[in-house]
Amino acid sequence: MHDMPDHSNSPRAQWNSRTGFILAAAGSAVGLGNIWKFPYITGENGGGAFVLVYLACILGVGVPVMMAEVMLGRASRSSSVTAYRTLSDPKSKWVVFGVLAVVAAFLLLSYYSTVAGWALHYTYLSLTNAIAGIDPGQAEGLFGQLTGSPLIGVGWQFAFLVFTMCVVAAGVSHGIERWARIMMPGLFVMIVILLGKAMTMSGWGAAMDFLFGMNWDKLTAAGVLEALGHSFFTLSLGMGSMIAYGSYLRSQDDLASASLATAGADTLVALAASVVIFPIVFTFGMEPGAGPGLLFVTLPTALAQMTGGAFLSVVFFVMLVFAALTSAIAILEVIAAYLLDNHGISRVKACVSGTVLVALFGVPATVSGSWFNAVDHFVSNWALPLGGLGIALFVAWRMDGALRRKEFEAGSALAKFYGSWLWILKYPVPVCILIVFLHAIGALAWIGGLLA
Ligand code: PHE
Repeated sequence: MHDMPDHSNSPRAQWNSRTGFILAAAGSAVGLGNIWKFPYITGENGGGAFVLVYLACILGVGVPVMMAEVMLGRASRSSSVTAYRTLSDPKSKWVVFGVLAVVAAFLLLSYYSTVAGWALHYTYLSLTNAIAGIDPGQAEGLFGQLTGSPLIGVGWQFAFLVFTMCVVAAGVSHGIERWARIMMPGLFVMIVILLGKAMTMSGWGAAMDFLFGMNWDKLTAAGVLEALGHSFFTLSLGMGSMIAYGSYLRSQDDLASASLATAGADTLVALAASVVIFPIVFTFGMEPGAGPGLLFVTLPTALAQMTGGAFLSVVFFVMLVFAALTSAIAILEVIAAYLLDNHGISRVKACVSGTVLVALFGVPATVSGSWFNAVDHFVSNWALPLGGLGIALFVAWRMDGALRRKEFEAGSALAKFYGSWLWILKYPVPVCILIVFLHAIGALAWIGGLLA
């Protein structure tokens, strides 16, 4: 099947195969969340027990919501806003979740491109050997220079956004799927190279203990909630990405297994990234709980002291750029698909106008750390879980039951799990998400205080 022009009145574009969907969806899921955020929040939360809780959140909450989100797209054959209308009624109030998703995509890309720009800058620094031999103070200085000079940061950010725009403008199978078919295997090869090196390092044992030792005493309630929140971010849920990607999935393809495979790939990369980063951190006696600077300050310092460090840092930062790109593509697709489905403009126009708006909004995120943090807080802690809640409630309680069953079971090796999936989506998933919100507004602490 060939790519079709993506005008709203022509037949909808499709992936060439189920594998094409899985690669693109895994591309969306595997991103800065896996390689930058997961290792540093694992470090901050003391490792082991946090990793286990995270895995439980992915399997128990993330995977069921992903199946629901992909289903929303495929059953409606449209993107977030229209999906809710098509599957309920044209005046439905559910549409607010669709609108929220588009707003969230817009905000997310505006600061995601900041960090992706940093990754590009560090690729450049690695290629020009500027990282070689630096000490911790100098590494701190390099990062400070980048975050303190708006021109450099914004320059890399725009370069990243322009590339993303070109891929999405080329269409679903000619752009998104084609690039996922190149970048995802590339990312896999780079991770394997880095893993090979990490295994030979003296900090390997300490890193394994840190990541997989069950240190329950280090786990806090806030850590559990962070794991849950991050499972939405890392699986790209609640923002309409999976709705858009699901809408291009062929009707005979097994949606449940494809979602499971996507989540599996995402989890493997998050674990592999940690298994690469922590041996390096421990070998050089550095601080695992360094926070957001783990990748841009701690890691370059360690790489600078390693034999083969110059080559490895190129591999590492190119891998980070690949991961960020395939995710940014999925975020821009939410905006493009919205404009295509609702305003009938061409794909190219939708991509250009969407990118220009995101770029304008992205400048403050690059220039101001507090703006960056505020937008990240809103998107990660509120918009995505709220979007996920909307999807779970809609699919479990509002969508037509016969259609839901048909979508889940079509060609599926997991058809016998339909009942359990639906039950999880109806009760435990909304309850878990509500608990995250109660925590966010401080209500849990308040209730705890009352009980104490
Ligand atoms: N999952 C991506 C990551 O881990 C981020 C993302 C969120 C992408 C939502 C698309 C939609 O970096």
